[in-house]
Parts: sequence; C-alpha cells; structure tokens
Amino acid sequence: MFGPRIDGHNGIALVPSTLEHFKLHMSWMLQPETDRFWGPRFGEMTDEKQEERFKKTGEDQTQIQWSIAYQDEPVGFAGIFDIDWVRRDGESGIFIGRHDLYGRGIASEAIRLRTDFAWRELRLHRVHNWIAHANRGSRRANEKVGYTQMGLFRRSFFRSGEWYDEWLGEAYPHTFPDQR
Ligand SMILES: CC(C)(COP(=O)(O)OP(=O)(O)OC[C@H]1O[C@@H](n2cnc3c(N)ncnc32)[C@H](O)[C@@H]1OP(=O)(O)O)[C@@H](O)C(=O)NCCC(=O)NCCS
Repeated sequence: MFGPRIDGHNGIALVPSTLEHFKLHMSWMLQPETDRFWGPRFGEMTDEKQEERFKKTGEDQTQIQWSIAYQDEPVGFAGIFDIDWVRRDGESGIFIGRHDLYGRGIASEAIRLRTDFAWRELRLHRVHNWIAHANRGSRRANEKVGYTQMGLFRRSFFRSGEWYDEWLGEAYPHTFPDQR
C-alpha cells in the first residue's frame, strides 16, 4: 500500500507514489551513479511492467511505499517492506534517483519521517535493513535516526569486479532520537 503524505523540513516530503513516479524509476535505477550499491542491473524495465508493479505495490498489505518529494518534485522512493504484523517487524529501503541532489540531507529527512511513522502510526516493534558496508551515506542517514549494527554479512554480493560486505542494521522505538 502507499503511505500518506508527510511533510518534513527543508522542502522534503514523503508522498503517496503515482504511476508516473513508478515510470521514473526506470531511468533512475539504470544509472551508474545510483546503482553502485543497489538496484537491478537486469530485468524487465518497461512501462507495462511498471504499471504491473504499481498495481501490486498498491495492493500489497505487507509494505508501505512512498515517493520522496523535494520542492514538490519526485526524486526517489522509500518504504518499509515485508512487514510481519505479528512480530511487528519490517525491512526498510531508500533510493534517491536524482544523483545531482545527493548530499543535501534528503535521505536523512526521508528516513527520519519514515522511521517516525513506523513507531507512531504503524506501532512496529523493530525495523531492520541491509546496507552495503561501503555505502557510507546510507549507513550514516540510518544511524542518525537510531539504527545500529546487528551484524555484518561478509562478501554478500559481487558487483563491478569486487565483493561487497553488507551491514545489517536495526532500529527500535527507544533508539529514535526524539524519544530518547
Ligand atoms: C545513499 C543515499 C540514500 C544518500 O542520500 P543523500 O540524500 O545524499 O543523503 P544525505 O544528504 O541525507 O546524507 C546522509 C549522511 O551521509 C553523509 N554522506 C552522504 N553521502 C556520502 C558519501 N558518498 N560518503 C560519505 N558520507 C556521505 C552525509 O554527509 C550525511 O551525514 P551528516 O548528516 O553527518 O553530514 C543516496 O545516495 C542514494 O539513494 N543512493 C542510491 C541508492 C542507494 O544506495 N540506496 C540505499 C540502499 S541501502
């Protein structure tokens, strides 16, 4: 399902994704600047497939997906996936498709809004994620809202001629800065 609009600081908001946003994903995900640590390097990236993915995402009761808006333009997406409503645990993910906007704090604010929603609205007990250890920007943005390392999955995936370790992170309501 798609999450509701949540306005944050500095012109950054989480907004419900539209089909037009999903169609933008294709060009966002197939760039070397954005897919270094994440994203498919193969697969069916067509308008038809994106329509199918959009419909499935909207119907899926085990995920909350948003587009990230910056100054009212869609620039990426974020969400919590594979939510187990009994264990109250889910996996989080984020992707900024506009690499010309990296380093402006967009991910940090989007992750703060997403994590706050996980605790205050979804009442989750824990959120976890997998981040390439070398992906410092993503790790840092998550650590700032209370994610800490629970493990290191060595040589998790092979890309561009080298193996990457993955940092396994977890966050809880009591690790969220505003609630400490
Ligand atoms: C990783 C990503 C989400 C970061 O987005 P962003 O909007 O540039 O991040 P922010 O500007 O909020 O920066 C977050 C923190 O990381 C730091 N940072 C950002 N990029 C960095 C880099 N390349 N190297 C080191 N630190 C970096 C920032 O300084 C900031 O820390 P600070 O607040 O202490 O100064 C974005 O680059 C992205 O979407 N990449 C492609 C997809 C991806 O890797 N997704 C994550 C999969 S786990």
